[in-house]
Amino acid sequence: MALYALGDFHLSFSVDKPMDRFGSVWKNHEKKIIKNFKKFVKEGDTTVITGDHSWGRKMSECEEDLKFIEDLPGRKILLRGNHDMFWDAKKTEKLNEKFEGRLLFLQNNFFSYEDYGLIGTKGYAFENLDTYEHYEKIRDRELERLTVSYEKAKEAGYDKFIMFLHYPPTSIDEQDSVFTNFAKEHNVKKVIYSHCHGVERFDDSFKGYVDGIEYKLVSGDYLNFRPEKVLD
Ligand SMILES: [Fe+2]
Ligand SMILES: [Fe+2]
Repeated sequence: MALYALGDFHLSFSVDKPMDRFGSVWKNHEKKIIKNFKKFVKEGDTTVITGDHSWGRKMSECEEDLKFIEDLPGRKILLRGNHDMFWDAKKTEKLNEKFEGRLLFLQNNFFSYEDYGLIGTKGYAFENLDTYEHYEKIRDRELERLTVSYEKAKEAGYDKFIMFLHYPPTSIDEQDSVFTNFAKEHNVKKVIYSHCHGVERFDDSFKGYVDGIEYKLVSGDYLNFRPEKVLD
């Protein structure tokens, strides 16, 4: 058994959004995802897919993309990305009912892998796309959602955690953030995130060990769409 992570599939089987205009790494990226999952991920394994699943703006435009994910080997846990318009955070329970036995949606809940609680939320980082006040508002709401996820795992008896974010855990040039502080204060062993695309974004935030916590960037183009092993 193993735990893997990979993010930012940006699928578009039902809408016209070819990804190869973002660089050659995106050429036939769906085929790379299938090939790598079949090569590395076994049926008993779990993969957390860290958001930006589909370009579809509503569920009917995402069904094929979600079916693609469903058909990949192993257990799949999905996290919400900034592009996942089909997923209303407040209606995650409904998604979990609709896809029961096929896909798991991580939001205001938790899942487990061996003796780890898998917790997470979209997170947020300042990218100069909104005002700092707006950034703080969204960031604080995301921290609340992360806390709900953590508390549910804690109540269920878990005392060590892997934390998943879609956005990087810090904004560019930040040395810490509410998310890295949360990780330090709550026995989080690893922080896994994606969202960063293109070589100029791959160093936006932490990678490797900081304060004893391992940080991993798992955006699809960073890993050439090969799932990253998080735990054996
Ligand atoms: Fe993305
Ligand atoms: Fe994103």
